[in-house]
Amino acid sequence: MPEYNKGFLAGEIQVRGDLILAPMDGYSSWPFRSLCRDLGSAISYTEFVKAEDVLDRPRHIKEKLYFTDNERPVFFQLYGHNPDKLLAAALHLQEWEPDAIDINLGCPNRSIANRGAGAGLMRTPVKTARIFKKLSLGLEVPVTAKIRLGWKDCQNQVLIARIIAEYGGSLLAVHARTKEQGHQGEPDLPGIAEIKRMVDIPVIGNGGVMQVSDIQTMQEITGCDGVMIGRAAIHNPWIFSKLNREEITVIQVQEVMLDHLERSLSFYGQEKGLILFRKFAASYLAPYSISPEQRKQLLTEVDPDKFTQQLGEIFAAAEG
Ligand SMILES: Cc1cc2nc3c(=O)[nH]c(=O)nc-3n(C[C@H](O)[C@H](O)[C@H](O)COP(=O)(O)O)c2cc1C
Repeated sequence: MPEYNKGFLAGEIQVRGDLILAPMDGYSSWPFRSLCRDLGSAISYTEFVKAEDVLDRPRHIKEKLYFTDNERPVFFQLYGHNPDKLLAAALHLQEWEPDAIDINLGCPNRSIANRGAGAGLMRTPVKTARIFKKLSLGLEVPVTAKIRLGWKDCQNQVLIARIIAEYGGSLLAVHARTKEQGHQGEPDLPGIAEIKRMVDIPVIGNGGVMQVSDIQTMQEITGCDGVMIGRAAIHNPWIFSKLNREEITVIQVQEVMLDHLERSLSFYGQEKGLILFRKFAASYLAPYSISPEQRKQLLTEVDPDKFTQQLGEIFAAAEG
């Protein structure tokens, strides 16, 4: 376990540490989330689930929300636009004993944002107020939010942040990009700083952290309480131990990769576990020179034992 040098309180939740794995659909299920937690991520955010799915297809989402107690604090992330459905879904999820329920106000995907959920909620401050009032009064666990820096034509992110804090939100994660930027383009860190100055709940800064040095830049410019890291962690989960990928030895990569593979196989079963691990394997191996044939053979392998054997050969070559 890495040493924690900082922490903060979100409502009554003590967060021990200041680096946090971002919720990422298709990535932040138990195998990767728990691994990042072991490497130093201070909160386990689940990938988002739709309020209607919680109510109509709870079995479908159980896999996404599975967690182990050593991951706590665990935040379940929910998206939707209907205040009553969000409350009903959150009440249902509360039974599964998360530490907090997080509402997504950041997703830029058309199918979500254009229907008024995700980043779409940022265009509707009155509805946002109703959602946070309902949830903070109706739930026993704290309610938190993840927002972004508004839309190009609707720069009301400070208003939305203040509404969330005013109507019972306990913590705010802010992705430093507009809806139109999606996940690309230069993050606007002063935009987070402005929000941090205007609310009295903890603010987690997010967007564009690629290297350990970017963590300090985010902290210095924004004054944020925590730093959330998304895509860089897929390539370098050691970033939660404040290590750049270049500092990680081949042996360490091999160890963590096998640990991650084991978590994926035990969680999803042999076949699905290996298939879902492929995208992570490609990221772990990206820095090494591997022939296209060898890469293809590995990433299409269906037998976990043969996959592990091939990995061993790749690492032996990388060490030598
Ligand atoms: C593949 C992928 C899936 C994502 N899924 C979610 C999600 O479920 N909930 C959410 O709030 N944000 C989601 N995001 C946004 C990230 O949490 C984060 O805000 C974004 O990647 C910016 O951080 P980064 O620059 O460190 O990657 C996703 C991003 C990516 C790349």
